[in-house]
Amino acid sequence: MEQQITKFNTHSDLFVEKLKELFKDGKPHSIHKLLGIYAIQSVVDSVVSLPNCSSDADADQFADNFKIYTEITSHRLLNPWLILGFIWRFHRLSPELNGAVQGMNNFAKVIIQKHMDQIKKMDHLKEDEAVEENTCLITQMLKVNASFEEIQTEVTTMLFAHESNTLSLLYFLLMLALHPEHQEKCRAEADELFNETHAHDDAGSFDFNSVSRLKHLERCFLETLRILPPVFMYGRKLESPLRLENNVLLPPGMNVYVCPLVMHKDEIHFPNPDSFKPDRFLPEECKKRHPYAFLPFSAGPRICLGMKSATFSIKILVTKILHNFEIVTEDKFENLKFRFSLTMGPEKEPAFIFIPRNKQ
Ligand code: HEM
Repeated sequence: MEQQITKFNTHSDLFVEKLKELFKDGKPHSIHKLLGIYAIQSVVDSVVSLPNCSSDADADQFADNFKIYTEITSHRLLNPWLILGFIWRFHRLSPELNGAVQGMNNFAKVIIQKHMDQIKKMDHLKEDEAVEENTCLITQMLKVNASFEEIQTEVTTMLFAHESNTLSLLYFLLMLALHPEHQEKCRAEADELFNETHAHDDAGSFDFNSVSRLKHLERCFLETLRILPPVFMYGRKLESPLRLENNVLLPPGMNVYVCPLVMHKDEIHFPNPDSFKPDRFLPEECKKRHPYAFLPFSAGPRICLGMKSATFSIKILVTKILHNFEIVTEDKFENLKFRFSLTMGPEKEPAFIFIPRNKQ
């Protein structure tokens, strides 16, 4: 994790520079593209240990292919006859989907190949010693003799998860823009961290312990995930019968769906559920709730594998943004509309203005 955190720091500093450039004109802009690149590079950092493994252009291309993939797949799910292979093959969108899938697979292949070449190059160490030193996903899979195809499947799954990361970041920044009083509290924590780490150059390098101390910022992040969980629904197939509280018995083999978007609005666990109240996540408040009332990352054996790294990468980036900018939006929460695809994205991109703090 420490290795990853170092890379998150570097990417966050670059991100802050990109924001400075984009908002030089003082006008509102969408930042979805920039966030997508950051999220993809953060995921790449958690599967390979090489520095600068994916350029901005490659990450951007992956994000474009992913967008095509999710749009066409959602279209097929809403028109189930298109799931049938012999019909789909002749559909006008079929070649576009194949192209997008191939593009994403190639991205994963290139990363894995670069990683393997690097390990081979480390001839000053024996190959297995190089593997021993290195704890990233690909190395760990190589250690248990996974095939190239198996590694590629895992890496692609992880890369798909960048979208949840992108949307979490987007919604977090939006909530901070919409709730300036909480933005100020989070900024106070961010500034304190900068002062303590003597990071007077606006960059700063945060470690595991310092990031763990951002308590109000963490509560704001969790409250964002409560109101706007990017993975709004996920399914499970029952392996054994399940009896519900109302005595209805669900048979094995049945598909059941968990919908955090609905669960997180339950008045019993979250009174006044539409209001943004980060203090719901104070430790004493969490203790009062059912442990499964809040499930943005799922739970149990299939819990999100990127939960920790996503949380760290998001906290580091937002801390650096808050230290450098005031975040403003003219959008209203009540006007936001969502498109329900594999994740819950905005129908129209919110626009932000990032005002450099030293110019106020
Ligand atoms: C804040 C951002 C994220 C959220 C809200 C999120 C949420 C989730 C949820 C709800 C699931 C369960 C989905 C299901 O069971 O169908 C899941 C699974 C998963 N997530 Fe995430 N995720 C995030 C970021 C990430 C990142 C950055 C990675 C990779 C580095 C990642 C890797 C995975 C993987 C591999 C699974 C599948 C686990 C399994 O089925 O065993 N996630 N995520």
